Parts: sequence; structure tokens; C-alpha cells
Amino acid sequence: MIENKIVCSDNIEYLKTLESEYIDMFLCSPPYDNLRDYNGYTLDLHGLGVEMFRTLKTGGVVVWVVQDACVKGTRTGSSFRTALDFMDIGFGLWETLIYQRRGVWNHKTRFRMDHEYIFVFSKGNKLTYFDKEHMKVPCKHPLKEYHGTTNMGKDGKRVKAGVIKSGENKCNGTIFNYNFGGDGSKLKSKHPAVFPNLLALDFIECFCPKDGLVCDPYSGSGTTAVAAKSSDRKYIGIDINQEYVDIAKQRLEEEFIRRPQNRKVPNTPNGKTMDDFYVEES
Ligand SMILES: C[S@@+](CC[C@H](N)C(=O)[O-])C[C@H]1O[C@@H](n2cnc3c(N)ncnc32)[C@H](O)[C@@H]1O
Repeated sequence: MIENKIVCSDNIEYLKTLESEYIDMFLCSPPYDNLRDYNGYTLDLHGLGVEMFRTLKTGGVVVWVVQDACVKGTRTGSSFRTALDFMDIGFGLWETLIYQRRGVWNHKTRFRMDHEYIFVFSKGNKLTYFDKEHMKVPCKHPLKEYHGTTNMGKDGKRVKAGVIKSGENKCNGTIFNYNFGGDGSKLKSKHPAVFPNLLALDFIECFCPKDGLVCDPYSGSGTTAVAAKSSDRKYIGIDINQEYVDIAKQRLEEEFIRRPQNRKVPNTPNGKTMDDFYVEES
């Protein structure tokens, strides 16, 4: 059986051994513009896109977490080039999300980097699975009515939209806020470029059906695999570096990711919560 494995391999070579339409969801973060040296890998994002497209089930998604390096004063733009290339391969760009995080370096000549991109690429016109219930938190002002709201009409004039009622729960929009770091795991912190446990758990539960198969072709410390296992999904993790493969295997034996209690949707920059603007969808 291929599922529930962490394999040490080049991701393209390994995916080539799988049959088409095999995987429910990919979740990964590629090395950012060769920012780190991972034992002499070759970064063939186009080749990987082709293999991901072939092996992904129709209705599945690739969740691609990425940021661009800054080289000689300019962002490389590689993440956008890759997004367009993946669309040429056949993927739809289902959504571009912002992963908001706390930047650490305070550059004198640049803004501090507080975000990454999460591109969600889809195969086919309709997703097989989408569930965001677990991302919802209680509204601060549940079931409150807001009067006198207006919309901009096509002619540019304001039209009264009537009464808007907030729901009991609210969910993120397209900005996702996660603390980043080792998640308190000594094993995980041995890898230099991990993503948050909760990010992996959220997106797996959002896009992969129960018992479905999640693949991370840049598995690193195995965050995706641990999140998949913790949420009753199957996993395949692929990493070219044996040291990281060993860390991932050990994490799978020792760790379980739990959903935090009392989760909050992040505040807006002006300090107000977005509560008042969330309306429960029907
Ligand atoms: C940004 S890290 C991913 C970290 C992971 N998201 C986590 O939370 O631990 C990228 C990983 O891709 C691996 N890698 C780079 N090129 C690869 C390739 N061609 N095939 C498989 N893995 C590769 C590196 O060894 C590294 O561990």
C-alpha cells in the first residue's frame, strides 16, 4: 500500500510512479527561490506542476504556500510566474489567499515581511469537497441587525441595501492569520522552513474528504502528514533529504495536532474586529 508513507525521493520522480487521478489533495510549501540549500536538489516547479495535475483527482486542489525572495532589491515574482504556469498546465486558480504572520526582521530599507501567499489551484470546474465549518468562531455580536447599510449601484450611486444581520458564527475571509514557528515541537524546529500545524490542519479539513489522501511533495518536517493523520486522512510525504524524512517519521510517532479552543479571527489593522461585517451565509 502506498498511503501513509514518508518517502525519500525527488518529488517528480516519485509522483511518476503513481497512477493518474490518485490523490485527493496536495498541500505544500516549495523552497522559496533557492533561499536555502537542501542538499543539491533541482527546483523544477513546472515538472512538478505537470505531475501534480496528472495524479490529482478531478475536483481536488493543490494548496501552495509560497513567498518570493528579494534579490538585488527586487522581489523575484516567482510565485506569480508559477501560478500562471500552473494555469497553463490546466489548473484553475480557485483562490489566492494571504497567510498573515508576524514578520521578524525589521529591515531599514524595506517593509517588514508579514505575509505569504496561499494559492489554491483546482482541477476541474467544481471542488469535490469544501468544508469551512471548523474555521468558524463565535461572532462578538451574534444575530445583531445593522440598519442603513448602502451598496454602490452600477451607476455609481448609493443604493440602500436594507438590514444586514450578523450570524452566530463567522469565518475567515481570504486572509488567514497563523502564528509561525516550531509549534512547541523540538523535532519540528530542526527544520529551517516549516509552516504552522494549524494551517495544515485547517486546509486539509477544508479541502480533503475524510479518509482522503493528502500528498506533500515538499514534506520537510512532515507537518502535512502529521496534520493528515490527526484528522483521519491518509498521507504521502516526499522529501529529498533523508534527515528531514527521519524527523517527519518521528513526528508521526510522537505528535498529534489538536484544534485550539477559543480561537479568534484576527483583528483588522484599525484594532476593530471584523465581527460587524460578517454575515452568516445561507
Ligand atoms: C519549505 S520546506 C517544507 C517544510 C514543510 N512544509 C514543513 O512544515 O516541515 C521544503 C522542503 O522541500 C524539500 N525538497 C526540495 N527539493 C525537493 C525535491 N525535488 N523533491 C522532494 N523534496 C524536495 C527540502 O528538503 C525541504 O525539506
